[in-house]
Amino acid sequence: MPVALIVLAAGKGTRMNSDLPKVLHPVAGEAMLIHAMAAGAALDPARVVVVAGHGAEAVRTAVLAHDPEAQVVIQAEQLGTAHAVAQAAPALDGFAGDAVVLYGDTPFIRPETLARMAQARARHDIVVLGFEAADPGRYGRLVMADDDLERIVEFKDATEAERAITLCNSGVVMAAAPVLFDLVEAVGNDNAAGEYYLTDIVTLARARGLSATAVTCAEAETLGVNSRAELAGAEAAFQARARAEALETGVTLPAPETVHFARDTVVGRDALIEPYVVFGPGVTVESGALIRSFSHLEGCHVSRGAVVGPYARLRPGAELSEDVRIGNFVEIKNALLAEGAKVNHLSYIGDAEIGEGSNIGAGTVTCNYDGVFKHRTTIGKGVFIGSDTMLVAPVTVGDGAMTGSGSVISRDVEPGALALARARQENKPGFATRFFARLRALKSQMGKGA
Ligand code: UD1
Ligand code: CA
Repeated sequence: MPVALIVLAAGKGTRMNSDLPKVLHPVAGEAMLIHAMAAGAALDPARVVVVAGHGAEAVRTAVLAHDPEAQVVIQAEQLGTAHAVAQAAPALDGFAGDAVVLYGDTPFIRPETLARMAQARARHDIVVLGFEAADPGRYGRLVMADDDLERIVEFKDATEAERAITLCNSGVVMAAAPVLFDLVEAVGNDNAAGEYYLTDIVTLARARGLSATAVTCAEAETLGVNSRAELAGAEAAFQARARAEALETGVTLPAPETVHFARDTVVGRDALIEPYVVFGPGVTVESGALIRSFSHLEGCHVSRGAVVGPYARLRPGAELSEDVRIGNFVEIKNALLAEGAKVNHLSYIGDAEIGEGSNIGAGTVTCNYDGVFKHRTTIGKGVFIGSDTMLVAPVTVGDGAMTGSGSVISRDVEPGALALARARQENKPGFATRFFARLRALKSQMGKGA
């Protein structure tokens, strides 16, 4: 059965007190909406439709950057969750599979939970995801009769007895797409909020002889974000889970509470991540690599045996082969470092390729940007780049070559050559002694004159 995801992301999120649409606020460095889409991706959806409204252009950009195949539809006025789902109907016209409604501000639904909902769909027309709330607050309440879900009542419309129910609505719903769209068409707005409630489809479905049930999950999964405090809480929950998972899979973290992971960070067994390391999106660290303190990694790959940091920055496209050494205050961007290459101190390596076993001296810079274009630096195997070399790209240094310290290299260097590009040194015997004597005499004369 093919599946379509419908992700609701049109709300303003007034309580965020922000110019940024709520669903674009980041958790672990990535928009909440992207977490929700990634959760839904576990169902291998044939179609993904995001319903945008507030900040729709920014939402569209973020969605398409993550999944170019996704469709973004606009809900110009936020008239309620049923109205939001209805906006996805034209985009899914003729789609006969199941539709799954997710919320852009509910980032942590687990794949296993969605799989359990899909199983329950074999027995029921509508499956709603519920949870036992520690503090049910203003959530919608699920009214059950044994295994059957009779209806969902919104807090605002609930009686005292209904408010006492602790089984709450997460918002996640699964049903055949044509059935879902049929039902949302029939939803009215005669309620306390004057909104078109998606939750009303349960009553409507049962009146038509369809069946509904609820699958439950841990409250932590359905955590919704409505304020900055809840956003911080979501971040803390995410990091706590990511750290626990890393430890579980055999990663050494001497101070787990200081390490920050991204949604997709992959760290191999027996890797050691020292305190105060931050992972942005798209990082893979292989088994046995060592990431030392205060390093920041993003969009990069670190192979086994490599050592990074302390105080290193790996930016997108940094590809470190086995046993590479990246030391303190070194930045690597869009560069391939072959096995055993070393960049140990105070360097910038961008848009470059560095061959096996080459050593890059302290303070080396690949000058990759001419103000308009980016250019590549290619360094062969077993090369020795002297300290403080400026490599003005495009430039190639052949295998086994070396550059003198302080050189500005703007022409290719053939294999095995020494390139020197700096002023020749001149020593003037006695000059410094005479020079300082003159200056001191001048100073003492000025003192007397005053
Ligand atoms: C909703 C549910 C409630 C559930 C709670 C869980 C309804 C009527 N109520 O309430 O039962 O317990 O979520 O968090 O569905 N959105 C749109 N367009 C709209 C309205 C909302 O896209 O017109 C989006 C929002 O951006 C948000 C999501 O839908 O991502 C939920 O909307 P929200 O207004 O937060 O619903 P709740 O009142 O929390
Ligand atoms: Ca909400």
